[in-house]
Amino acid sequence: MGVRHHGRRRPARDGPAALPHRRHATLSYLLREDSWGRGYATQAVADMLRHAFTATGLTSIGARHHPDNPASGRVLLKNGFRYRGIRDGWPAYGIHRPGRHQRLRYEIKIG
Ligand SMILES: CC(C)(COP(=O)(O)OP(=O)(O)OC[C@H]1O[C@@H](n2cnc3c(N)ncnc32)[C@H](O)[C@@H]1OP(=O)(O)O)[C@@H](O)C(=O)NCCC(=O)NCCS
Repeated sequence: MGVRHHGRRRPARDGPAALPHRRHATLSYLLREDSWGRGYATQAVADMLRHAFTATGLTSIGARHHPDNPASGRVLLKNGFRYRGIRDGWPAYGIHRPGRHQRLRYEIKIG
């Protein structure tokens, strides 16, 4: 299981060693098949979210799963993720830090 940060670099005045301004991350996980169905993924995702939203500056987390693995979607929904639709053939989900005002984001692609 892992969380990958995405973020803008702080402005140049902070110097070249400045850390990225981390607000969004993606979550991914993979369990050995012989350990599926025991609640491990659900518990691990819950623990990861608790840490991410209390001990870091993250305000949102995204995740997606293989289309042939609906159990993974169930794990995300049980942990409060919302289904966002299909992205590149993969079901995508997102969650915002509880209590934070959620900003709506819009995207347009031309061509
Ligand atoms: C997804 C994965 C982590 C699940 O792990 P797990 O420990 O078995 O998950 P849990 O036991 O915590 O929960 C599984 C849930 O899915 C449900 N489920 C199982 N098979 C299902 C199916 N075919 N359709 C819908 N839900 C299903 C279970 O009933 C359970 O929900 P419930 O508690 O409400 O009954 C594991 O299947 C895996 O590693 N898959 C391959 C990699 C992958 O898809 N990673 C996700 C990338 S984000």
